[in-house]
Amino acid sequence: MKLCAWPGNETLAAKLRAALGASELPLETRHFPDGESYVRIAGECGGEIAIVCSLDHPDEKTVPLLVLADAVRAEGATRVGLIAPYLAYLRQDRQFKPGEAVSSRTFAKILSAHFDWLVTVDPHLHRYNSLDEIYSLKSRVCHAAPAIAAWIKVNIEKPLLIGPDSESAQWVGDIAARINAPSITLEKTRRGDREVEVSVPHIEKWQNHTPVLADDIISTGKTMLAAAKRLRDEHAKTPVCIGVHAIFAGPAYAELINVGARVVTCNAITHPSNGIDLTEVIAAGVRLIPVERP
Ligand code: R5P
Repeated sequence: MKLCAWPGNETLAAKLRAALGASELPLETRHFPDGESYVRIAGECGGEIAIVCSLDHPDEKTVPLLVLADAVRAEGATRVGLIAPYLAYLRQDRQFKPGEAVSSRTFAKILSAHFDWLVTVDPHLHRYNSLDEIYSLKSRVCHAAPAIAAWIKVNIEKPLLIGPDSESAQWVGDIAARINAPSITLEKTRRGDREVEVSVPHIEKWQNHTPVLADDIISTGKTMLAAAKRLRDEHAKTPVCIGVHAIFAGPAYAELINVGARVVTCNAITHPSNGIDLTEVIAAGVRLIPVERP
């Protein structure tokens, strides 16, 4: 297998190449003066090719990524896979208001038309049970929980795992169970994209534990911020905030740091807060993609 790193994904791609025994397929990209993308594959394309591209900022990446996938196939790849540790466009999974586009379906159709397989980490599956409901390509979902649990075990004394909303309960419970730590869930009310309220249940009995907030996506950071502020006010210790997908739109990262929280994320999206390595988790997912027999 050859791995091609989309710009910004070079570090993770290099680690994946080492873990998978894959070689590098170099890439050249630039923009034409009108903003259109130029893509050139600077190597041999025979056999299985995987493109490593986390899909944060998906609107600017999708068109050139599809152009690359088609070019790789035209140059001789027998199969083209996508390793997208963060998979975008999953949150609009139904019409909330009449006339709204269900963008998750459209995005799934587009990727499925250009790639043979997809490996991703903890996709935001809320109202879909599995990616197969909307993706027609072969997909493999990897989970960050084992890597997060291992990091907490080594770095945090007496952790209390905290999910900021009911959606995170099962996932946070999984991390907690792996290290034999207690876990609780907060109640979240979202009033808008950037307006979130969080209520903290009685946590008096956990005052000698270190609060560890864990969530899948940190986007505007408002969920983490609201939870971290409440914990700072109601708990003796400053919380640690762990996210799988470090989107950090706008001032999200600075806001969380300013609250006094320690912020640690997985390297599903490259970000200065990355402290939990998912190379082995993702490589294991790639190894499970069935080999196509001629
Ligand atoms: C929500 O369902 C997710 O699990 C996250 O809590 C959410 O995506 C975080 O978004 P934000 O950082 O914008 O509050």
